[in-house]
Amino acid sequence: PLRAVVFDLDGVITDTAEQHYLGWQRLADEEGLPFDREANESLRGLSRRESLLALLGDREVDEATLEEWMTRKNDYYVASLADMSPADALPGAVELVDDAKARSLRVAIGSSSRNARLVLDKLQLTEAFDAIADGNSVERAKPAPDLFLEAARLLDVAPQACVVVEDATSGVDAALAAGMVAVGVGPQDRVGHATFRFDTPADVDLDVVLAGGTA
Ligand code: BG6
Ligand code: MG
Repeated sequence: PLRAVVFDLDGVITDTAEQHYLGWQRLADEEGLPFDREANESLRGLSRRESLLALLGDREVDEATLEEWMTRKNDYYVASLADMSPADALPGAVELVDDAKARSLRVAIGSSSRNARLVLDKLQLTEAFDAIADGNSVERAKPAPDLFLEAARLLDVAPQACVVVEDATSGVDAALAAGMVAVGVGPQDRVGHATFRFDTPADVDLDVVLAGGTA
């Protein structure tokens, strides 16, 4: 039987995609890199470094410059979180976490972000989770399964007994690679390969997921 739900953070619990986008856009503008809102869509769920490499395209820069640009973007991003509050949780997200807990499922965060604890603190949700695996927990980012396997390890639950809720292609890939049930939130072309797909976090129906996942 399924025993735990591992939630992605950015795009599932809260929509920080806009703040990440604004941070990258400001850096791109400062450095004369072509970038726009549409190009940002392909960065969804990627690690900080993978995001910058995708943004750079064919342009080659040395490691020190990469580090400086990642730091600068992150400074913009962190500054933009100053006004974040519990009201910035996505509709239905907290209810979904509570629903899982009411069903005696354990709950964890599995986020690529090194800012995950900061964001959870702003949302006043740190205490809501039994475990937090984030961008500081493992070396290999999604789509590697490592982050979700680490969340399962922290929860002391077998990977096959975990459900992952994800909004990104790379996150669904990571969940499936970990041998977990993948619940995608978002459009078919982004998360259609998940075990189950819903349009938004508010639409996720754990009755459907648990019935389908316990066969
Ligand atoms: C993911 C976001 O959760 O974390 C990505 O979807 C982001 O947009 C990645 O690049 C890394 O986050 P951070 O906060 O460590 O730069
Ligand atoms: Mg996400």
